Amino acid sequence: MTHPILITGGAGYIGSHTALQFLRAGHTVTVLDNLSNSSPESLARVQTLSGKPIRFVEGDITDPECLAQLFSNNHFAAVIHFAGLKAVGESVAQPLRYYQNNVAGTLCLLQAMDAANCRTLVFSSSATVYGDPQQLPISESAPRSATNPYGRSKLMIEELLEDLYASDPRWRILCLRYFNPVGADPSGRMGEDPQGIPNNLMPFISQVACGARAQLSVFGGDYATPDGTGVRDYIHVVDLAAGHLAALDYLLAQPQGEWLAVNLGTGHGISVLDMVKTFEAASGQSVPYSVVARRPGDIAACYADASKAHQLLHWQATLGLQEMCADTWRWQAQNPQGYRLSASAGDKKS
Ligand code: NAD
Ligand code: UFG
Repeated sequence: MTHPILITGGAGYIGSHTALQFLRAGHTVTVLDNLSNSSPESLARVQTLSGKPIRFVEGDITDPECLAQLFSNNHFAAVIHFAGLKAVGESVAQPLRYYQNNVAGTLCLLQAMDAANCRTLVFSSSATVYGDPQQLPISESAPRSATNPYGRSKLMIEELLEDLYASDPRWRILCLRYFNPVGADPSGRMGEDPQGIPNNLMPFISQVACGARAQLSVFGGDYATPDGTGVRDYIHVVDLAAGHLAALDYLLAQPQGEWLAVNLGTGHGISVLDMVKTFEAASGQSVPYSVVARRPGDIAACYADASKAHQLLHWQATLGLQEMCADTWRWQAQNPQGYRLSASAGDKKS
């Protein structure tokens, strides 16, 4: 069955890769995005790669009028809700902006959905809701906590979604807790396009490999991990996008409403040095690095128990670290300016 789907934040990194897979699966896709951290060029490429049209509404989830208009003019079978701000450090400096955008924005969205009788939602949560985990791998029943306003906004949204379902069991709500999304579409046409200095490991490594930055700082070499560097569960964005299709299929097949949370990860821990070595092999470039002090707030290790997604959603990650690095490098090498103008010029030629 195919359905009309609203994707908030669909011009962003994970949203655009998900929109591509939804179009390929035959769904009709409308994207609502305020372009605060993305470019409409990502959606142009989604259309080219899928060969299908996408409807784009430039608007804000905190704007009730925009939402009311969108829901009164359209019927959506479900909302896939990516829109949000995601930089941990920025959230510490600007907590009100983060709570307004992420929490108040989600409230506005839920009110508009309720008024339109659209009560099926897939929400982008994060492994950050596990705080500093007491046990590895991390299962969905692990205790939740937050160490910064970004993480707290995700936790607050998960909790308000639970309250909403408890008040009205017609809601079908699936919180997907992503581990560390990396990689890019294998075409090399879509990928992560961070503004300024990347906060995250993979985009930083790829900018070092292409010579845009001199070297990687490895934050801490004395963790209680096999090589002393931080361990994470990196998941290819193409696998992650497929997890949203599986989540939608699951929700729409349920005879009754439900609230649940499911991890999306591979279940494997990868260290910073593993990542550097694999990236060097995949790109043929060297990635100079030096080990520096730990980054405040970082944890030693974090990886998923991925069994619930397998059992319930019939989904599991299929792509490994080699593909994550090779696909990131293809995107980086072909689009050194990301989605900015020089990349568009390249687009016209193809
Ligand atoms: P992204 O910044 O690339 O995409 C988010 C999109 O939402 C952007 O296009 C942005 O313009 C849009 N947006 C932000 N605020 C909006 C608003 N008020 N109204 C409309 N659009 C708005 O980020 P991403 O990496 O694709 O992440 C998507 C979601 O997944 C976010 O909610 C993020 O918190 C969550 N998440 C991401 C990661 C990660 O490491 N990338 C990990 C866990 C969870
Ligand atoms: N790292 C470096 N050097 C860098 C960047 C990162 O050594 O320049 C290390 C970190 O110390 C960590 C690992 O690489 O050990 C991964 O760091 P990332 O910043 O890529 O990812 P995090 O796991 O720290 O954070 C990510 C998201 C957060 C989210 C968290 C939990 O960026 O938004 O996962 O889901 F909250």
